[in-house]
Amino acid sequence: MDEILAQDEFALVTRKGDSAKADYGIPLAVLVELTHRCPLQCPYCSNPVELEASGKELTTEEWLRVIDELAEIGVLQIHFSGGEPTVRKDLVQLVQRAHDVGLYSNLITSAVMLSREKLQALADAGLNHVQISVQGANAAMADRVGGFKNGHAKKLEVAAWVHEMGLPLTVNAVMHRQNLPQLPEIIDLALQLRAQRLEVANVQYYGWALKNRAALMPTRDQMDTATAIVESARSQLHGIMEIDYVIPDYYAERPKQCMGGWGRQFFNISPAGKVLPCHAAESITGLEFDSVRGNKSIRWIWDNSEAFNAYRGTGWMPEPCQSCAFKEVDFGGCRCQAFALTGKAGNTDPACSKSPHHKRIFEAALESAGGSDSFIYRNFSGGTPEPEKA
Ligand code: FES
Repeated sequence: MDEILAQDEFALVTRKGDSAKADYGIPLAVLVELTHRCPLQCPYCSNPVELEASGKELTTEEWLRVIDELAEIGVLQIHFSGGEPTVRKDLVQLVQRAHDVGLYSNLITSAVMLSREKLQALADAGLNHVQISVQGANAAMADRVGGFKNGHAKKLEVAAWVHEMGLPLTVNAVMHRQNLPQLPEIIDLALQLRAQRLEVANVQYYGWALKNRAALMPTRDQMDTATAIVESARSQLHGIMEIDYVIPDYYAERPKQCMGGWGRQFFNISPAGKVLPCHAAESITGLEFDSVRGNKSIRWIWDNSEAFNAYRGTGWMPEPCQSCAFKEVDFGGCRCQAFALTGKAGNTDPACSKSPHHKRIFEAALESAGGSDSFIYRNFSGGTPEPEKA
């Protein structure tokens, strides 16, 4: 999955009293990663570095059962994602089932494998929304970042079909040092494509992006410029196109409320059926994740599983979080980032200026803002260095 999800897509539906953990009703929306297979090779992919092989993916029957169960427990929205979800031959069938059981469906796609016929079949099956990623404002940038020739042109073609078919469109632009100078053109591009919403999502650094941090990390000047551009565009485009904006933790003053808080607003189902508190949770070694292939229901897993309860609420927090006035604002930030950068998921997110690790880790990382531009492309063999330019 080369996209970064805006956090407001996962608003909490609280149903007090209907579970042992009464404060944590089932979320409104769930992200299902149908596969980790993807023709693109984005160096900031949010999939885990250890990708799930196709042979381990849930079967069509298993996904259909999961979709039924999601609807039964009260989930309202399903985000079909990956990898690239359109590599699954059963996607139309899964979208149809989501429609039949009353789920609102969103397709999160790179779009490069879609034909007009396939998109029409998805629309006919009841698909409600399409989100297309762009890697830059032009083919030279976008195709290089995605590691996929002619991908940008194909995305523009598919976006036009989305509009013709009357489906709402979100454009997701993952930004970093190398494509931030194109931000004004990317905003224009999203307008031309008649997107209702643009996500300007600066890369967050774990997994593949952490491997590529030196090539992706923006400078402070770039971030200040980008923030001003977004603010100005938001006021000019009010009522025409919404713009979501996520800045990297490294430049934020406080840690982000990652996924709305661990086990609080969101869950994710991996290609092999693991039920996860976030898309990167499997990067935390030592946590056990329950699977939809086991004998436990999704509802039980949400309420009772060790992984969901490990960092829920505030009880697990160390100092300085425990006595911090913001502990129920940011819920301690990102567990995956704390694990990736400090080796312990239960540590204070080093994005927080109060973390004892903050100075050493974040200041050192910002020095990498002037590093090499070469990528390590995401793939199943653990990553491939970008070929040197001739
Ligand atoms: Fe997993 Fe932030 S990405 S908690």
